Amino acid sequence: MKQFAISVPVTELSYDELSPEELELVNTAREASHRAYAPYSKFHVGAAVRLDNGVVVPGSNQENAAFPSGTCAERSACYYAGARYPEAKFEAIAVAARGTDGMELDEPAAPCGACRQALVEYEHLAGHDVPVYMAGATKVYRMPSVASLLPFTFSEF
Ligand code: THU
Repeated sequence: MKQFAISVPVTELSYDELSPEELELVNTAREASHRAYAPYSKFHVGAAVRLDNGVVVPGSNQENAAFPSGTCAERSACYYAGARYPEAKFEAIAVAARGTDGMELDEPAAPCGACRQALVEYEHLAGHDVPVYMAGATKVYRMPSVASLLPFTFSEF
């Protein structure tokens, strides 16, 4: 028998430790949370994808009366980025959320499992690690890649 552990390096940053480019990405996700359509959960999520063509694509969760028909912020951002700029490679991703009280969460927001699977496809297409920024009210977690959030990733690549 053999056992091994998989560890994930997390970098915790305060907002003033972010580079201007990182701050732009994270703030785009935070702003996008204000455009969420979340009348059912009242949980407002924003996401942003930085592409190698210089464009930062925002997304937000869009809910539906038939609950499963809605989509998460991360998937609205990555699918729009893929649909609008099919040739562009992903460079970085950010996610931010506001709770039912409208306030940003203290603990940084993490992408759900389905979004991790969706995002890792674009990381594979990029051909390199794509860092993920998870924004909280006063701190940001930087993960080195989407795959680091999804060990034993299922992939056709
Ligand atoms: N949601 C996201 O937008 N991203 C996630 O990673 C997790 C959850 C949305 C889906 C739904 O509109 C609301 O948050 C409550 O689950």
